[in-house]
Parts: sequence; structure tokens; C-alpha cells
Amino acid sequence: MTNTLPAFITWDDSWCIGVAEIDHDHKQLVKLTQKLFGALISSQAGEHIKEIMHELIDYTRHHFNNEEKVMAAHDYPELASHKILHQDLIRQVLDVSDRILTEGESEQIGDDVFEFLKSWLVSHIINEDLRFRDFLGK
Ligand SMILES: [Fe+2]
Ligand SMILES: [Fe+2]
Repeated sequence: MTNTLPAFITWDDSWCIGVAEIDHDHKQLVKLTQKLFGALISSQAGEHIKEIMHELIDYTRHHFNNEEKVMAAHDYPELASHKILHQDLIRQVLDVSDRILTEGESEQIGDDVFEFLKSWLVSHIINEDLRFRDFLGK
């Protein structure tokens, strides 16, 4: 990743949950989203975009599993509904991935795809994951 790319999404410390492994995963997800954005706007080869997209999906699954384990270990009362949100996010990112893989090799990806990627990750962290921090009393 070069520094010449515009910052699409940047980590903000106010998003920290206070659980090291969750914060680490979230930072990685932000980096992967930025990497995907960089590949899309610099019109990199379809194969490369596909690779990053798969990396993002795999990492998302890995992170959701980790996060759910941590929540379960703390008897988080909202775990069941949080799991449903995660399933929904995976479904949404698979849909958008199909779209990127279909349209990625053509000249433009719509702003809505970028907006989706940003809000997909950030809204979930800010609106949902931070509730877990509140529950932990951090
Ligand atoms: Fe979550
Ligand atoms: Fe999360």
C-alpha cells in the first residue's frame, strides 16, 4: 500500500473496544478495506482484486468467530442477536463481492459500493461492537 492513495477509511482510536484481539482484528479489517479500495481505484487486475476480496471475506469470518467466542466467554446477553447481525454482514459482503468481481474489471465501480464497504464495517463497529465495550464497562 503506497501513501499516495487517498485515505478511504482510517482507523480511529475511539473505535477501540478495549479487548486486544478484537481491536487487532478491527484494525486489520480497516487495512484490508483500504487495500481493496486502493486496488479498485487504481484499476488493478481482476485477479488481484479477487484475491483481496477473498482475503477480506476470510478475515471477516475469522474475526466474527473470534469476537463471538470472546462475547460468549463474557456471557454477553446480546450475543444471539449480534450473531444474526454478523450473518447478515457476511451475506451483504458476499453480495457486494459478486458485484465487485463482475464490475471490477469494467471502468467504474459506483460510489454506492464504496459507501457500502465503509459503512458495512464502520457502522457495525461503532453501533454494535462498541455496545460490548459498554457492557464490559470499559
Ligand atoms: Fe461484531
Ligand atoms: Fe467486530
